Amino acid sequence: MDNGRGGSPAHSVRIGYGRTCHLSPQACRREDFPPGARGAVAESGVKLAWRAWRPVGSTTAADKNNYMLPATQDEADPVTDTARAQPRPQGSLLSAITRITDLFTFPLRTSHYVELVNPLWTTHQLQARVMEVWDETRDARTITLKPGLNWRGHRAGQHVRVGLPVEGQHYTRTYTISSPPERPDGCFTITVKVVEGGRISRHIVRNLKPGDYLPIGLPQGEFFLPDAQPVKPLFISAGSGITPARSMLRSLLAQERLPDTVHIHYAPHAFDTIFGQELRAMADHHPRYRFHPVYTRELGEQQREKQYFSLAQLEQLCPDWRERDCYACGPQSLLASVEALWQEAGLSRRLHVERFRAAFAQVPADAVGGAVAFAKSGVTAQADSATSLLRVAEDAGLNPAHGCRMGICHACDTTLLSGCVRDLRTGEVRNEAGSIVQPCICAAAGDCTLDL
Ligand SMILES: Cc1cc2nc3c(=O)[nH]c(=O)nc-3n(C[C@H](O)[C@H](O)[C@H](O)COP(=O)(O)OP(=O)(O)OC[C@H]3O[C@@H](n4cnc5c(N)ncnc54)[C@H](O)[C@@H]3O)c2cc1C
Ligand code: FES
Repeated sequence: MDNGRGGSPAHSVRIGYGRTCHLSPQACRREDFPPGARGAVAESGVKLAWRAWRPVGSTTAADKNNYMLPATQDEADPVTDTARAQPRPQGSLLSAITRITDLFTFPLRTSHYVELVNPLWTTHQLQARVMEVWDETRDARTITLKPGLNWRGHRAGQHVRVGLPVEGQHYTRTYTISSPPERPDGCFTITVKVVEGGRISRHIVRNLKPGDYLPIGLPQGEFFLPDAQPVKPLFISAGSGITPARSMLRSLLAQERLPDTVHIHYAPHAFDTIFGQELRAMADHHPRYRFHPVYTRELGEQQREKQYFSLAQLEQLCPDWRERDCYACGPQSLLASVEALWQEAGLSRRLHVERFRAAFAQVPADAVGGAVAFAKSGVTAQADSATSLLRVAEDAGLNPAHGCRMGICHACDTTLLSGCVRDLRTGEVRNEAGSIVQPCICAAAGDCTLDL
């Protein structure tokens, strides 16, 4: 393949979010990189670019880079990176200079060399440095991150995508920013709870340490309070679903405009309530904030259902709930009950919901899985009828592009080449060859072939 510079045939590498960099055969030899660059290869996300190089013809959809997240507006995911987009200063002196220096650093960019000095100064990929880790409970940890130069402020309640290399695979997960935007040191926090059987949450909570660098995306999401004074908010949260509420509450306090607020939070026990102590102290100091923790296992396993969300409980803890704007975040069972109640009351427009995972429908008892062929990778794996095809691909050692893992961002979109898949949210079966499917929310419905 021509390298576009009138030179000899070239190979190419994926160096960023959907970017391909053409290399001369000479440049493809790793020994040709300057020693410093090889250091960077060992230390940072740049290594992926070089390790993953392959001729263009063999580039797979899996290389749609889910690890090196967009650093700048012009590289941003057009589907998901919309909220609070701040235009980058165009034509600034700095960008003019780097445009010139990029000519001398080809096939890399100046930013790749800047990364050797400080990964937070790069422009080709936004990164964050882990500054501090703090155990909230025995299985939840708050990570303080200092973002790189292209970071833009978030709105309280928004989330961020975080890239993590684990055991040679590169994963992306989404975490709500649990700190308020008003934090003065320019850092932000995420608070992660271990999910049983989860791959990444455990790694973040147990292994991440100060000094580590992580690729991150830009803040996203529509789950935030209106700019105008919210009408008496009611927060309903459970488990790690407390993170957006915490960010919003801290933000309202920092702005000294905390309205009359009620917060009902569900956790198994007092000792494993994330931010429990902090929110109880907040309630003690601010009479406008009423915090009602509900400990679902305090009465013992037999009686835990008594503590679950219900109309009677809501009437007792927040009798004026109908007059409030409700912000709910937690497991699907809680959100389903809340949604049903608000719908019944004709108040759905006053309910704002944030989900951490997709709401899946019951898979029919007679549903069958099948053999899933990943055409570009030449891999076939056996799948049941309930496991997402994204998970099947990862279990088979592939690294498909992904983002939200819940059918929102379309980062995982791929083509169904043949066979049938089932949308796990709706139960709908798709069998049109050539149609676009989302592996993160589809499972096999018989044998199928995906363009991955
Ligand atoms: C917008 C958004 C914001 C989020 N904010 C936070 C946050 O602030 N704190 C936080 O801890 N997590 C948050 N999450 C969830 C997070 O992205 C991961 O899904 C979670 O950490 C599990 O990842 P994992 O790799 O450990 O599990 P995986 O390996 O992806 O999944 C393992 C198993 O656990 C199930 N599972 C996946 N996610 C969950 C979940 N959230 N609850 C229960 N079971 C699950 C899967 O179905 C699977 O069976 C958020 C998700 C979204 C979409
Ligand atoms: S990963 Fe976001 S839609 Fe599949």
